[in-house]
Amino acid sequence: MPPCLFVFLCQTTAESLTMRLVIAFLLSALLPVSLSRRDPLGWLYGPRAQSYYPASLRADASAAECPEECDCPPSFPVAMYCDGRGLTAMPTISSRIKYLYLQNNAITAIPDATLANATSLVWLMMHHNQLASDAIGKEVFSKLGTLERLYLQHNNLSSIPPSLPRTLRDLRIDHNKIEKVNGDLEGMDNLTILYLHDNALTDIGSSLKPLKSLTLLDISGNKLTKVPDGLPEHLHQLYLESNSIDSLPDGFLGGFTQLQYVRMAHNQLTDKGIPPHAFNVTGLVELDLSFNKLERIPTVSSTLQHLYLQANQIKEFTLGSFCGVVDVTNFSKLRTLRLEGNEISREDIPSESTLCLRQASTIEI
Ligand SMILES: *[C@@H]1O[C@H](CO)[C@@H](O)[C@H](O)[C@H]1NC(C)=O
Ligand SMILES: *[C@@H]1O[C@H](CO)[C@@H](O)[C@H](O)[C@H]1NC(C)=O
Ligand SMILES: *[C@@H]1O[C@H](CO)[C@@H](O)[C@H](O)[C@H]1NC(C)=O
Ligand SMILES: *[C@@H]1O[C@H](CO)[C@@H](O)[C@H](O)[C@H]1NC(C)=O
Ligand SMILES: *[C@@H]1O[C@H](CO)[C@@H](O)[C@H](O)[C@H]1NC(C)=O
Repeated sequence: MPPCLFVFLCQTTAESLTMRLVIAFLLSALLPVSLSRRDPLGWLYGPRAQSYYPASLRADASAAECPEECDCPPSFPVAMYCDGRGLTAMPTISSRIKYLYLQNNAITAIPDATLANATSLVWLMMHHNQLASDAIGKEVFSKLGTLERLYLQHNNLSSIPPSLPRTLRDLRIDHNKIEKVNGDLEGMDNLTILYLHDNALTDIGSSLKPLKSLTLLDISGNKLTKVPDGLPEHLHQLYLESNSIDSLPDGFLGGFTQLQYVRMAHNQLTDKGIPPHAFNVTGLVELDLSFNKLERIPTVSSTLQHLYLQANQIKEFTLGSFCGVVDVTNFSKLRTLRLEGNEISREDIPSESTLCLRQASTIEI
């Protein structure tokens, strides 16, 4: 047994090692956050400690530039932590700061001047505040020419803020009251993650189509009655659950080249609303159609691995939905199939299923 630095890296199976490495990577991505929480020397430079030392003894100018209400660890001078401190207004931000943590406060406004000097910002975390759209300066974000992550979820926004920088890669603005997406996201060629869920969107038309790098789009928990017309074509993950969608357009999934995960649980989908081969597209890994009104199992591609159909009104187990022909090489790759809460029971599964669904390790019925 080799000596191990971290217990969790001592696992030996390839799969779990990969998983642990992913976790370790994620942890390192969160490092700035943990620095502020765990730095054992925090008392040395904390705002309260500072007042015990004359200004001349402070580490450097950067400590002096740190507002009273925030923490600026000397060991990570490009970060400023002002999260969870009951702030109601924006602090002063020096041009040195790249990572700014302002989440979990009660900030109500971002006036135009507040970010004027914050020209180095790469991450701006402002989730869980009380920002309203009319309290955000029209040009407040436009000068942030290096901003990549903007977190505005759980605020009181009724629209996407204007003049967002085109450099954004990750925009989270879920849990607000947004009703429309107009041209707000045009030209965001590097945007890969967009969280718009739990808002009040009724129709987004083709407003997201130009987002050519977008891989994850979450528009669940809105008021959509149909699948938006033009969606970006390089999506890997499309989340549409908890809307009121009752039908899918013809060739719904055919337009995507890399789509792997489609979640449409808790909608109003009926058999009639689903074109015959809507889901028979290769590449799809997971399809969630649970909590809809389907009476039949839709035809899916033999490459699909996880299919969720629980809580529909399915009355028949149609093997043809999974396998057109069955032979040595033609069988379904399905591993998970959930059918509980429908109008069928285990006896309705024909015995030939064992050939077609030979890889299914979980069939809930
Ligand atoms: C921006 O920096 C200038 C020069 O250092 C300073 O006078 C001004 O007060 C700063 N503005 C804000 C909003 O911090
Ligand atoms: C949210 O904004 C609305 C106006 O759009 C306002 O009436 C309401 O008080 C705000 N709520 C909070 C929690 O700030
Ligand atoms: C997108 O990212 C590339 C590579 O990092 C960069 O060169 C380009 O300027 C970025 N585009 C925008 C609009 O920021
Ligand atoms: C799915 O489509 C392919 C061709 O794209 C076809 O060969 C196959 O039989 C279809 N599957 C089912 C179950 O109809
Ligand atoms: C699998 O089925 C397709 C038709 O869907 C057929 O062309 C192919 O020959 C079959 N593979 C084998 C090994 O029989």
